[in-house]
Amino acid sequence: AASPSAAGPDPAGPGAAPDPGSTSLPRFPAGFFFGAATASYQIEGAHDEGGRGPSIWDTYCREPGRVAEGATGDVACDHYHRYREDVALLADLGVDSYRFSIAWPRIQPTGTGKANPEGLDFYDRLVDELLSRGVDPAATLYHWDLPQALEDRGGWRVRETAERFAEYSALVVDRLGDRVTRWMTLNEPFCAAFVGYAVGRHAPGAREGRGALAAAHHLLVAHGLAVRALRAGGAREIGIALNPDRLLPASDSPADLAAVRRAETLHNAVWLDPLFAGRYPRHEAETWGELADGSWRAEGDLELIGAPLDWVGVNYYRPITIADAPYRNADPATRTAVDIRAEESWRGDVRHTAMGWPVVPHTLTDLLVDLKARYPELPPVVITENGSAEEDVLAADGQVHDADRVAYLRDHLHALADAIEAGVDVRGYYVWSLMDNFEWAFGYDKRFGIVRVDYDTLERLPKDSYRWYRDLIKHHKQET
Ligand code: NOJ
Repeated sequence: AASPSAAGPDPAGPGAAPDPGSTSLPRFPAGFFFGAATASYQIEGAHDEGGRGPSIWDTYCREPGRVAEGATGDVACDHYHRYREDVALLADLGVDSYRFSIAWPRIQPTGTGKANPEGLDFYDRLVDELLSRGVDPAATLYHWDLPQALEDRGGWRVRETAERFAEYSALVVDRLGDRVTRWMTLNEPFCAAFVGYAVGRHAPGAREGRGALAAAHHLLVAHGLAVRALRAGGAREIGIALNPDRLLPASDSPADLAAVRRAETLHNAVWLDPLFAGRYPRHEAETWGELADGSWRAEGDLELIGAPLDWVGVNYYRPITIADAPYRNADPATRTAVDIRAEESWRGDVRHTAMGWPVVPHTLTDLLVDLKARYPELPPVVITENGSAEEDVLAADGQVHDADRVAYLRDHLHALADAIEAGVDVRGYYVWSLMDNFEWAFGYDKRFGIVRVDYDTLERLPKDSYRWYRDLIKHHKQET
């Protein structure tokens, strides 16, 4: 595999090693764990079974023009019915842990009130199946499928949703707390708040300024309240899955550097500062002007949000280059929280995945080293997602020889090993994803799986990347 040559102004950043591009297997310390990840709406299907209520994604998918080819999660990978087969794939893979998410509308179909027993039963069966096959269950409480009934009452724009989330979390930990090994409150609150309420490319599809900033804060409050509920329910190993970004300036011009500062606020500081530094971001006014009046904040929120975590999850795929740009929307009255005069792109000659994302593995090392330097209180890290969508081909021999995905995983795992070598405390890694699934607004066209899903027959077919990952895990266990 060609070693990607990073281009653009100093994209490597300080202290970056060249991309490995090596065919050798990356090595990890003893005790380091491997896993695979999925999320409820992306794989479960059975949207109207087991007493499940509608989520904002059910609604969004039914709005014309929102999702590619009008795709929905109604059937998805039919994991709701095929979970035993999927757990068998995990067991054969040899992973230590499986990261899945719990669909809030299965537990509380209208987002409030007592638990729907059928909903809890499903996850109970899944957890027992995992344990019986020697795989540790790792549960995410919120991977974007908010009960529609709560969106109808304001969704994440209102604090009440955070309070409801705490009640839901208590119901789940009450039932599963004795068997789930590792918990995540939220997945990528950046996307839930800003892609959902400002860009409008995720459910609920809103394009707002203050609404999106309030959503960001209420998601953090929800996290803090859920941590309390989880601890009260006896859960251990509590964390959150964030997507901190590696943001690089397109040039050294003052305008581009200022754009990076605003993008840093939007992508990173909004989450990391309250969680790990006990403060709200420093450059809010510069980023959002009068939009960021913080009227949704209450006394005591910082303490609640900043309660100690056992670990922090990092979802990482690709770096982003930021250039100053004209306001996408010059009218402050209708400006959204993402119209911050910063344009994202990548310049330079590197391979891009089927998502159009640049492949620059060493930026994972740089990100982690930098995170640790910037946040001395950062708890141990787990990579909660990493992987690539590729143009998979079903070959004449009936297999998927996904060499690009193998190279992507191998090079990012080398970069992760480099971060550990540089002193970052990283405990484990989950590949995204166990299987092809519903890639949100892109529908089923973008395949991230190490297992192929045939959407006509719903058959699962392990790809070369599955076998490569299995060998890596086997090797790691033999060596350590
Ligand atoms: C982040 C999200 O958590 C996951 O749901 C998504 O499929 C992957 N990244 C790939 O875009």
